[in-house]
Parts: sequence; structure tokens; C-alpha cells
Amino acid sequence: MVKNVAPLFAELEGRDFYLLSGVEHGMRFSAWVDRDRLPSLTGLTTDEVSYRLERSLKRGLIEKRTIQYEGYRLTFEGYDALALRTFSKRDTIDGVGAKLGVGKESDVYEVSSYRPMALKFHREGIGNFRKLNRERDYTADRRHSSDLYTARIAAEREFDILEDLYPTVSVPRPVDHNRHTIVMEKVHGQELARTTLEEDAVTPVLHRLLTEVSRAYDAGYVHADLSEYNVFVTEDDIILFDWPQAVDISHENADELLRRDIVNIVRYFERSYPGVIPALDPGEIATAIATSNFGEIRL
Ligand SMILES: Nc1ncnc2c1ncn2[C@@H]1O[C@H](COP(=O)(O)OP(=O)(O)OP(=O)(O)O)[C@@H](O)[C@H]1O
Ligand SMILES: [Mg+2]
Repeated sequence: MVKNVAPLFAELEGRDFYLLSGVEHGMRFSAWVDRDRLPSLTGLTTDEVSYRLERSLKRGLIEKRTIQYEGYRLTFEGYDALALRTFSKRDTIDGVGAKLGVGKESDVYEVSSYRPMALKFHREGIGNFRKLNRERDYTADRRHSSDLYTARIAAEREFDILEDLYPTVSVPRPVDHNRHTIVMEKVHGQELARTTLEEDAVTPVLHRLLTEVSRAYDAGYVHADLSEYNVFVTEDDIILFDWPQAVDISHENADELLRRDIVNIVRYFERSYPGVIPALDPGEIATAIATSNFGEIRL
């Protein structure tokens, strides 16, 4: 698991970030950044580089490897620290609070701003990397750099999609993004999977959900990972979240993925509310989705 870097953020000094940024920059060109290149990459003197390397290593923000030459690379913690620094400079956030959730591919924290927000650190690829546990292999080295890269691409993608969908579709309001992270509105609710709906709310909630799926489709996207874990239920509505894997409706598998999303949700309702959902006419589902261009999707 990636450590929460927020508690050590206060210990970090401006020049620690010069060092981290220099390593980040160097990683565009090689998996391990040669120590000899760091003074020019960071604008720090050789002595200062040594001092900052030591501080960053001790805090787990970078890793060192000595094969052929002495090289350094950012850890996910170091990448997190750089993103936090950027958000704090931009006044997007002014503090990091409790963990809101851990997904398979992210860590989400509450952050303070003019009001509470959610900060999602993307971690795509990291699990597989750990399983391989071959950190010394060339492939694993490349893998690491590409994990940071993959996480960054996923965050950019999720942010762009949220910007496209909000406010037409019920999704968290996107606020800012940087590197592999996004800041969005904090949702006050709980996942559908953890919610027990009142009997008379079951059908309306399912309808709301299908309507939002349909609106997202009209706006150009299929969620492609829709389940009871990626839907929040708030006091008076539902919110669809977790969008990085969403596909364009022009994608060749879009209709198949849409069908899978809908089936996942409907099956969940059937399982969880057996007394209520069998009464739901498949035609009703069809009506709920017919308001869009779903076309020939069959359940
Ligand atoms: N905007 C938000 N407000 C409050 N909590 C949130 C918000 N976004 C995410 N969370 C919490 O963080 C958890 C993980 O978020 P999300 O599902 O986006 O990540 P993920 O790693 O992609 O998930 P998955 O395991 O589905 O792949 C959620 O289940 C939820 O509890
Ligand atoms: Mg999720």
C-alpha cells in the first residue's frame, strides 16, 4: 500500500521539491535518474543534492539503485507529494484529512478547501507490479515508470470525462487535476452496495440509475465498470462515480459494455430486493432507457 504522505508534508522544504521535480523530469528520459545529472536537473549544488536525496530517501519519496551508476526514481509517495504541493500552491486544497475509500486502483482522501473535497490518487498498475516483485529487472524498471505514467493518464482521462458529463449527468463535480490525481466534490452518501433501500425507494432508484446511464450515453460515454460499488446513494439522489475506464460510444465494444453495465445493475437489484424487482417489467427498464439513443440493446 502506498503510504499517506500528508503527515510528512509539513516537514518538507521548498528545496526538497526542487529535488523531487528534478527526479521527475529526469524520469522522462531514463527509469533511474543518474545522480550526476541531478544538479543540472534540480538547479541545486552537489552538496545540496546529497542532503535532499538523503531526506527524500528517508521519507520514502524516492528509491535508489546502484547498478552501473547511482540512480534514483520517484516512488508513488514522491509523486503524491509533488501533486499535493501543486494543489496547495494553487490554493485548490489546504489540508488532507481522513481516508474516504480505497479502491482497487486508487486511494481517496477527504481534503479541505473552501469546503470539503475528495482527492483521488490513481494507482493503476501498481498491484501487478508488486506481485511481480522483480524490481531489479529491466522490465520491472520500465514497468514502474509506466505505472506512474498509466496512473497519470487515468487521472487525466477521468477528469476530462467528469468535465464532459458534469452537470448533465449525476457525477461528482470535478474541481482540479494534477499528475495522477483529481480533486472533486466530496459526495455525502454511501455506496449502493452498503445501502439498504426502503422498499418504496427501490424501483425509483433503479430508474434514476438507468436514466443517468442513458444520459451518459447521450453525452458520449459508457461507464464500463458500473456496479453497486460505483454508485453513491445520497439523501435524495444517486451519483455515478469512478469513470477512468469509461469508453466512447463510438468504441467498437461500447454497446456490449453498456449492456454489461445495465445487466450488472439490474442483477444487483434482483439479488438484493427479490420481493420488489421481479415485479419490474423488463419493458419498464426498456422504457427507462428508451429516452436515449441506446438503440438495439437487449438485456
Ligand atoms: N467524490 C467522492 N466523495 C466521497 N468519497 C469518494 C469519492 N470518490 C471516491 N470515494 C470513495 O473512494 C472509493 C474508491 O473510489 P473509486 O471507486 O473512484 O476508485 P477505484 O479505485 O477506481 O475503485 P474500483 O475499486 O471500483 O476500481 C469509493 O468507493 C468511495 O468510497
Ligand atoms: Mg470504484
